[in-house]
Amino acid sequence: MAITLSSGFKMPVVGLGVWRVEGKEIKDLISNAVKIGYRHFDCAADYKNEAEVGDALKEVIQAGLVKREDLFITTKLWNSDHGHVVEACKDSLKKLRLDYLDLYLVHFPVATRHTGVGTTDSALADDGVLDIDTTISLETTWHAMEDLVSMGLVKSIGISNYDIFLTRDCLAYAKIKPAVNQIETHPYFQRDSLVKFCQKHGVSVTAHTPLGGAAANTEWFGTVSCLDDPVFKGLAEKYNKTVAQIVLRWGIQRNTVVIPKSSKIKRLEENFQVFDFELSQEDMDLIKKLDRNYRTNQPAKFWGIDLYA
Ligand SMILES: NC(=O)c1ccc[n+]([C@@H]2O[C@H](COP(=O)([O-])OP(=O)(O)OC[C@H]3O[C@@H](n4cnc5c(N)ncnc54)[C@H](OP(=O)(O)O)[C@@H]3O)[C@@H](O)[C@H]2O)c1
Repeated sequence: MAITLSSGFKMPVVGLGVWRVEGKEIKDLISNAVKIGYRHFDCAADYKNEAEVGDALKEVIQAGLVKREDLFITTKLWNSDHGHVVEACKDSLKKLRLDYLDLYLVHFPVATRHTGVGTTDSALADDGVLDIDTTISLETTWHAMEDLVSMGLVKSIGISNYDIFLTRDCLAYAKIKPAVNQIETHPYFQRDSLVKFCQKHGVSVTAHTPLGGAAANTEWFGTVSCLDDPVFKGLAEKYNKTVAQIVLRWGIQRNTVVIPKSSKIKRLEENFQVFDFELSQEDMDLIKKLDRNYRTNQPAKFWGIDLYA
């Protein structure tokens, strides 16, 4: 199942996110994911595993498990490369062993001090705060992203972690509209206004952290997991599905694309088996009431500045 982006290309509604997947795990994970049916992989220069993903992709293609044109590969421009968009994209392509990307995203709406193409450092200034480069506007970055499309390096371009105002601005200055805004959204952080604003203006929404980050974000950021919510446990029983499947199905039914990460083969299967049932409108309404406006991914914790304030 796929949605059609404003660029005309199709994007599968379930993808596998590879943040916090260790390099040595990737080969097995991607080969199993492809066998299960995954065609969409969500990567980023900052995940520091593009080279391993590239090796794994090459293997599954060479083994005849899948054709390049049937895959949908996303990667992201890191903050320190806003002034070096073309070089950064080429660096990612080289590591991923690809001729083109299906989707390239501006990872965060902030340019930081350049530390060398593809190094993805988050350099801090002397005061211990992220060294933000105030000389590069997001508009400049976006026009460089547009150049990638005309160069044939990228099929679609998009943004990530942009709020309504930044998305609105991007729509105003874009010659090529962002096809996607990839944002944190899950039942405890529904962001209905942002999701609906994007969708109304032709910007498809990918839900990152679609399971609320589960145990990983509890460990990294001390957050509460929506997978432990008793309402979801009740729904899982009712539909004879797991809590994760209910949460992902909810994401799909609100027309977002979901990219859950798992390093466990059984969970890869589980997270992909979300097309054989439908949540009733009554249950969609019930889940709507669980919203806590609760962000679980807090990269700014390491940057000495609250970028979301
Ligand atoms: N654009 C951005 O700034 C941004 C930010 C964050 C994430 N992302 C993207 O979104 C993807 C997903 O985000 P995320 O990994 O942070 O959060 P997530 O997918 O919501 O949650 C991942 C956590 O859920 C666990 N999990 C997976 N399937 C499960 C299941 N069926 N039952 C119970 N637990 C399950 C995983 O553990 P196991 O691995 O042990 O199964 C891991 O602890 C990332 O990989 C990345 O591609 C993008």
